[in-house]
Amino acid sequence: MSVLSGKKILLGITAGIAAYKTASLVRLFIKSGAEVKVIMTPASKDFITPLTLSTLSKNPVHSTFYNKEDENELWNNHVDLGLWADIMLVAPATANTLSKMANGTCDNLLLATYLSAKCPVYFAPAMDLDMYKHPSTIESLEKLQSFKNVMIPATSGELASGLVGEGRMAEPQDIVSFIENEILSKLPLKGKKVLLTAGPTYEAIDPVRFIGNHSSGKMGFAIAKAAANLGAEVILITGPSHQKVQHSFIKRVDVTSAEEMYTAAHTYFSDVDIAILSAAVADFKPKNVAHQKIKKKDATLTIELEKTKDILASLGAIKKEQFLVGFALETNNEIVNAKGKLERKNLDAIVLNSLQDKGAGFATDTNKITIIDKNLNEKAFQLKSKAAVAVDIMNEILLRIKK
Ligand code: CTP
Repeated sequence: MSVLSGKKILLGITAGIAAYKTASLVRLFIKSGAEVKVIMTPASKDFITPLTLSTLSKNPVHSTFYNKEDENELWNNHVDLGLWADIMLVAPATANTLSKMANGTCDNLLLATYLSAKCPVYFAPAMDLDMYKHPSTIESLEKLQSFKNVMIPATSGELASGLVGEGRMAEPQDIVSFIENEILSKLPLKGKKVLLTAGPTYEAIDPVRFIGNHSSGKMGFAIAKAAANLGAEVILITGPSHQKVQHSFIKRVDVTSAEEMYTAAHTYFSDVDIAILSAAVADFKPKNVAHQKIKKKDATLTIELEKTKDILASLGAIKKEQFLVGFALETNNEIVNAKGKLERKNLDAIVLNSLQDKGAGFATDTNKITIIDKNLNEKAFQLKSKAAVAVDIMNEILLRIKK
């Protein structure tokens, strides 16, 4: 999954021949999961039609402050457009528009929107080689970068004039990769590794039966996604779960039993910065697993159980720099029990959910948590979707880890 997935991208197109390439650019953004709106300067319509761009972006294309043809939508609000965007990209950016952006000129919708935008702004210059080298253009480029606008440099090659040199707009795929890399490099967990356990474990009784629990894995998978969205490389060790995950930063490791989860967790732990153990690991397993299916010949069946290895406690015992987070699902005396676990298992933080709270715990789409850190600071959160809870958990970890 691209870091652009779910992002709102406002593409400003100006009147350069490279405008014809913006059809591919819009397609690539849409393919990466972004939502796209397009604003064109009036002159850019000579190079590519608004119909092409509105069809590809699945949104109306705006180029003037008001639509004479549509009496229901007279006013194209540049402030709304500017505030809507997570990212604004001006591509191709001509010398004329770059100069106007640098000097605060506001004589078309694109420029008014640029001045209203609060999001990061990228621009991909495109012009003839002598225009690109002109001191006036260089001054515009420098000025825009001093505003923290990000330049996607032009490349060298054959230009529309027939001359060969610098001034070609970067290729659409390179523009997309540039923006993706730029976003990634600024993510707070870039370069960090996160280990997660999620879901239930199944402890075999015989070849067809097992002891399990109702954990769905939803919470752990949501945390994996939240951590990956912050730029972390995530190792998600999961017991049997129907949850799906699609993110290029998440490596899924499927296990079945507590013993397998223990081995997998220990395989990766020494190499990670953060470990979050949200799995509902079985506390007991059958002491002897029958090799053949157990027949129901007797009226009762006694299965002797023995304790599984406590993965969390075992990691707490060997941890060095890792930030270790456990979960506690309690029914009574919640805070005291959770603090006890935090200390006993040598954790940096524990996430408490109480089964007393409606909407918290297994299988639901919501959760209500309290986070307690190793200094015994407590922070209680409202009932939220598991996706939102996952973001809260990651934010609390971010506040406490060494950068
Ligand atoms: N955990 C683990 N390995 C186990 C059991 C639990 O890693 N074999 C982890 C869980 O992933 C969770 C935390 O430990 O992060 C839960 O703590 P635990 O002591 O298992 O809670 P309870 O089972 O509720 O303990 P108790 O029965 O003592 O309340």
